[in-house]
Order: sequence, then structure tokens, then C-alpha cells
Amino acid sequence: MDKIVILTGAGISAESGMGTFRDEDGLWARHRIEDVATPEGFARDPALVQGFYNARRIAAAQAAPNAAHEALARLETKWPGEVVIVTQNVDSLHEAGGSQTVLHMHGTLAGALCSACGHRWTAPPEMSVGERCPSCNAPAARPDVVWFGEIPYHMEDIYTHLTEADIFAAIGTSGEVYPAAAFVREACAQGAHTVELNLAPSSVVSDFAETRFGPATQIVPDWVEELLQQG
Ligand code: APR
Repeated sequence: MDKIVILTGAGISAESGMGTFRDEDGLWARHRIEDVATPEGFARDPALVQGFYNARRIAAAQAAPNAAHEALARLETKWPGEVVIVTQNVDSLHEAGGSQTVLHMHGTLAGALCSACGHRWTAPPEMSVGERCPSCNAPAARPDVVWFGEIPYHMEDIYTHLTEADIFAAIGTSGEVYPAAAFVREACAQGAHTVELNLAPSSVVSDFAETRFGPATQIVPDWVEELLQQG
């Protein structure tokens, strides 16, 4: 039965009240990436970076999944084949919406990482500068998110899923950041049907066989219902 692999970005969480990055009021309009989303920025000003992620962690914890997240969970439950979500998002709204198989290639706000020993644990709502690792006690705790210049997580599994995909969909992502922006080419090369569901054409829209434009809470449930009707 057809395997469906779905890449999601900030746009799928926009209607849950989470900011996107590159829309005109997005996070990168208010913060410099090099200050808050790089290892160098963290080394230079850990208080600024911990504060940036504390604000996002608190906002994410207060956000609710929307109809798009819930439609993807319904698809996973009712689709006879495998459904895998690969998300660039660090919120946990896919899981809150009921999805089981979610790969967070850019990490999660809910996670903390010790940069000294590699230990991972559930982050407190607010992390402080010099927060100690519960395992090695080093004052080296950081958000377990992937910063620019770092290697995304789960890449081996993601490429395996892409080679096995019969349908590849990208939802709510601008196609500005690699390696995620090239997943559509990988899936297409392996024979998958590719579809972009987005508010506006992404930078890689021409790589998709099918496009659907509109708010995710409208176009994603419609797409899912059509898939489930086809069976
Ligand atoms: N419904 C559907 N799509 C939407 C909606 C919506 N309601 N609102 C915005 N979008 C679309 C925008 O048109 C845009 O194409 O979502 C996309 C958001 O793009 P970005 O802000 O660039 O977010 P994303 O693609 O997830 O960024 C990728 O960049 O900064 C890094 O690590 C960060 O994971 C992030 C990565």
C-alpha cells in the first residue's frame, strides 16, 4: 500500500498562533539568526539565546494543534499504508494533534541537551545560563534544537523514508533551508508523486508535480479527505 512521507514547516503551526520565520512579521524579522540560532551566538551570549528559546518554549506549550495537525493524525490512523511526518518544527503540535510517527529533524523545544556529555532530558519551561546537566553536572545545558551550521537529526532514516515514498507532501515550508528543501527532488527521483500545500508558492514550488495553495487548516483537511476517499 502507498507510503506517504510529509515534510512540515512553520506554516502548519501558524494558525495555532506560532510565528513563522520568514513571513514579514516572522521571527527572523525580529532576531538575527547569527545571534540566536547558531552555536557561536550561544557561546557569545547564552542569556540571549536561552531567553529566546524560553519565550518560544512557553508559547509552544500554550499553543493548541489546529485542524491541519489533526487531519494528518487522522490520515496516519486511517490510511492503510505507512504515514511518516518529518518536521522542521520544534513545537510538539503534531504529537498533540495525535500523530505517532514524527521525526523532528531540527530537534524540539521540549528537549534539553548537555553539550559536555551529550545527555538528553526534558527541558524545564525556562532554562537558565549555566544550567547543570542532571547526568554529568557540567554547567553545559542547551536547548536540544539544531542550530545553523549543525547537522539535522534523523537524516539516515529520512533518506530511507524518501526512497520508499509513493507520495511526498510538503506543508507550510518556504523551501529556503537545506537539506529539507531538497527532499522533494529525492522523492521525485524515486518515483513519488509530489505535492506542495502552502499559503504561497515556496522557493522550490517548481519541483512539485501538484500544488495546493491556501491556509493549512483549510487545504490540509481537504487533501486528507480526498486521499482517504481514494483509499
Ligand atoms: N498555512 C499554510 N502555509 C503557511 C501559513 C498557513 N496559515 N502561514 C504561512 N505559511 C507558509 C509561508 O508561505 C511560508 O512558505 O509557511 C512557510 C513558512 O516558511 P518559513 O517561515 O521559512 O518556515 P520554515 O520553512 O519552516 O523554515 C525552515 O528555517 O530558520 C529555520 O530552523 C528554522 O525550521 C526552520 C527552517
